[in-house]
Amino acid sequence: MSDKQSITDQELLEAARRARAHAYAPYSKFLVGAAVLGQSGRVFSGCNVENASYGATICAERVAITKMVSEGEIVPVAVAIYTEAEELTMPCGVCRQVLREFSPTLRVLVGGPRSHEEMSLAQLFPRPFSFSKEP
Ligand code: THU
Repeated sequence: MSDKQSITDQELLEAARRARAHAYAPYSKFLVGAAVLGQSGRVFSGCNVENASYGATICAERVAITKMVSEGEIVPVAVAIYTEAEELTMPCGVCRQVLREFSPTLRVLVGGPRSHEEMSLAQLFPRPFSFSKEP
């Protein structure tokens, strides 16, 4: 499969916007949508899914990336994160580490109804934990 980007950034943000409609966030009321573009051109969307045991909550980005991996894809080329908060929503630290697992060079789009920005995961998360063997 080629890794050319088959959809536009605007379309990926739109997929994240649509996914946000499914957010299950009765506790925070903070609705997040995400969409991961795989190397194949397929899009995997996700929303945050909260839990009464707060720590069991899973972020939209991790839902989307785990959907990608569980569908047999391993290399993401871009992720879009969409909220309607006053400020653009940046991926949390745990999500940065999880996204980094699959692509150190991932393009990250953060968007809302009024604006969006592009950045790279390398910029957002320059020194990730890595699992290196003890001597
Ligand atoms: N959340 C995400 O879905 N993605 C992030 O990157 C940050 C936070 C969710 C988790 C929780 O449901 C709500 O936003 C408030 O933290």
